[in-house]
Amino acid sequence: MHLSTILLTTLSVLTSSFELIPAVFTPFTEDGSIDYPKIEPYSTFLKEQQNISTVFISGTNGESLSLSLEERKRLTDEWAQTSSNVIVMVSSESIVDSVELSSYVKTVSETNSNIISVAAMSSSFFKPSTAQDLVDYLKPMAEAAAPLPFRYYHIPSMTGVSIDMIEFQDLVEDQIDTFVGIKYTDTDLFTLRKLILNKGEGVEHFWGKDEILITGIATGATSAVGSTYNFMGRTGYDIVNAFLTADLPSAQSQQDKIVNVVSSWGNLGGIPAQKAIMQMVGMDLGRGVRTPNRALTDEEYDDLEEKLKEVGFFD
Ligand SMILES: *[C@@H]1O[C@H](CO)[C@@H](O)[C@H](O)[C@H]1NC(C)=O
Repeated sequence: MHLSTILLTTLSVLTSSFELIPAVFTPFTEDGSIDYPKIEPYSTFLKEQQNISTVFISGTNGESLSLSLEERKRLTDEWAQTSSNVIVMVSSESIVDSVELSSYVKTVSETNSNIISVAAMSSSFFKPSTAQDLVDYLKPMAEAAAPLPFRYYHIPSMTGVSIDMIEFQDLVEDQIDTFVGIKYTDTDLFTLRKLILNKGEGVEHFWGKDEILITGIATGATSAVGSTYNFMGRTGYDIVNAFLTADLPSAQSQQDKIVNVVSSWGNLGGIPAQKAIMQMVGMDLGRGVRTPNRALTDEEYDDLEEKLKEVGFFD
């Protein structure tokens, strides 16, 4: 086969399958309860303005560990009604709640095909100490959600759990039938590459670091889950498409847009800052976050908007 034919064939496969999945925020009203009616317009905004077709709900950005079980059930209902592909993060610090949410999501999925999978991260207060302990911890959630596909959400920066992922993947593939992959939110690319080389059939790795999306694609992730795709979905796809058509300078300059935006919020806190950005781009989710996160003050909001103007975010 001619080289360009091989290249084109490979490209069309890659372009059509690499997907950007926003980890969605939870909208709150002034009194701190969840603003459920915002979910429908939010879902439409993602589809129409950001070219998004799959959402990751109830994760870090959704402040899931600060939500009640009832709230997370209701969020599952609301997103499943408005969005065509929904991945639900089901874990919490109590295995009882985690299993109950898993089985709730499975029940919803029996009458609503928009739910495509569940995901769970490790507990973080009491931590599993071996790869097998982590598999044992995840198993009841995966079983309660089965036959829904199950993903492990690896985010050591938040959980403090840094178990050997290679060993973990070997064990989880053997012991959890519905295991389909890892959402990999870490910068250790060597480990990610080894995970990809060692993986069984049907297992995929989702990349979780927006500000270095290029490296995730280059290392072999098949999709990416992140916060900035909520408002920079098109920039994200510009990076993906430039990279896959071997236009590295363009991929890098598109990547710099995300680098500049992520840098602009400094230590304001990613979630409150990005909720402010959602408001700036016309998708008002309220500025509220759940304590101990803290909403931006008006002054912080204005400063952030000014910094974003300086880096050309609104151009
Ligand atoms: C929109 O998303 C699809 C994947 O769902 C992607 O292949 C396409 O390149 C994106 N288009 C733009 C203009 O970002």
